[in-house]
Amino acid sequence: MSYERQMEHDLALDFLRVVEAAAIDSARTMGQGKRKYSDHVAVEAMRSVMDTVPMRGTIVIGEGERDEAPMLYIGERVGLGWKDEDSQHHEVDIAVDPLEGTNLCATGAANAIAVLAASEKGGLLHAPDVYMNKIVVGPAAKGSVDLDAPVKDNLKSIARRLQRDVDDLTVMVLDRPRHKSLIDDIRAAGARIKLITDGDLSAGISAAVAGSGVHAVMGIGGAPEGVITAAAMQCLNGEILARFCVKEDLSDIDDASRIPEDARDRMIEMGISDPNKVHDTDDLAPGKRMIFAAAGVTDGTILRGVRFFGTGIRTQSLIMTTESHTVRFVDTVHIEGGPDTVVRF
Ligand code: FBP
Repeated sequence: MSYERQMEHDLALDFLRVVEAAAIDSARTMGQGKRKYSDHVAVEAMRSVMDTVPMRGTIVIGEGERDEAPMLYIGERVGLGWKDEDSQHHEVDIAVDPLEGTNLCATGAANAIAVLAASEKGGLLHAPDVYMNKIVVGPAAKGSVDLDAPVKDNLKSIARRLQRDVDDLTVMVLDRPRHKSLIDDIRAAGARIKLITDGDLSAGISAAVAGSGVHAVMGIGGAPEGVITAAAMQCLNGEILARFCVKEDLSDIDDASRIPEDARDRMIEMGISDPNKVHDTDDLAPGKRMIFAAAGVTDGTILRGVRFFGTGIRTQSLIMTTESHTVRFVDTVHIEGGPDTVVRF
């Protein structure tokens, strides 16, 4: 087994533990109406297990800048490898979203997940926490969409690739005022829509998994979520096209506070030379050795949420790697009871 494949092999299962821990702790808070608290426990759990992983990791997308986030901030060093100067452990860049869909968890709604992506150094775009206009499709429709094309043309292309009519397509869209004309256009083209209150990252994963009943995701959501979606697309052979939204083009964005005044300058500082460019999957996640891990927090389209059964906990996760080309759906029973604990099929 090559050095790199060994890295994927080892770290993939370690990252499984990391997302499972974040999912379990946040799921305990499900429905309590405290989204910040749910996020906080996910961050703490993810951070503490991350430090047991044999790697020299650096957070490149996380909970914010160092001065605004106590843990998992951009630039934070994580993993066992940093504790030993002579360590041979791999250097890894990591993008995390310990609880994607904080409101979904706080209200017990579908599709909250704990998620991360990792790659060799430089393999994930360092994207600031601003908005991005995105379109995500699965392997069959890869190469058939254009972010600047009219919505009806993209839908026709996707339908052709999927060998069906436009009215047999389902598109996921974040339910936001900024998407009024997008939603009108999709309806006018005849496709069906699943409006979601949050979670365009898990929606993107669903679009790339055949049989999920989701054929595309369209609209404006978070840029960090876009980068993590791109890592998932590299593993699933799907496609994301995305363009940063900067202050000048905010006329149709309802929460402009998410775009700092200096957004364009910060992007350039972070190495994004042309913020107006349409970034494709390879631009967002150029790494050759990608690992993606997600665990369901609440029940969702492709992952079940955490189940607590007294003497144990059951989690469902998705662990994918590019180099060994594996997509694992992992069902884990974490036994907490004594010798009488019963594990069900
Ligand atoms: P949180 O996990 O921070 O709650 O964000 C969830 C999310 O819905 C993302 O999936 C999406 O990309 C973004 O927020 C959309 O942002 P906004 O809520 O500002 O429209």
